[in-house]
Amino acid sequence: MNDDLQKRIAEAMRNPQNVGELADADAIGTVGNSDCGEMLRMWVKFKDLNGKKVIDRATFQSFGCETAIAVASLATELIRGKTAEEALSLKTEELAGELGPLPPMKIHCAQLVEGALRSALGPEQKPAPSSTPPSSPTLLDSFTRPKQGGVKITFLPRQNHPE
Ligand code: FES
Repeated sequence: MNDDLQKRIAEAMRNPQNVGELADADAIGTVGNSDCGEMLRMWVKFKDLNGKKVIDRATFQSFGCETAIAVASLATELIRGKTAEEALSLKTEELAGELGPLPPMKIHCAQLVEGALRSALGPEQKPAPSSTPPSSPTLLDSFTRPKQGGVKITFLPRQNHPE
């Protein structure tokens, strides 16, 4: 990874936006990458704006990978005020925003964010549970108390990416 990108990721990591569970979310999406073991969950809350349903807030949780966290931080800011259709029309590189082009080995990190967004907003949209935990578990809760969460995790297809 080049120094510029490393600096931009470090900058985004210094103050990541929208981290954590959104208790009253309208939609939730969770994806995993079986290659690297990274998982990411996104919560989305809508509001009505002049008769249009737009994204009021989106938050995320992730295990570890700095690039995925940096992209999720930028993407959850970027989709605010957009309709679900507008958010879904964003390309992977647009979600990565000011991080700029990612090296091939890191593109899947942004695709993880895109996958969580699609999982939350796409045709298989899973409404967020209406009550508070344990029926609305954090990402960690899903693993430590899997029977109580009942959350579907979508694994993205394996990809061959150069090192
Ligand atoms: Fe796999 Fe970043 S290294 S999501």
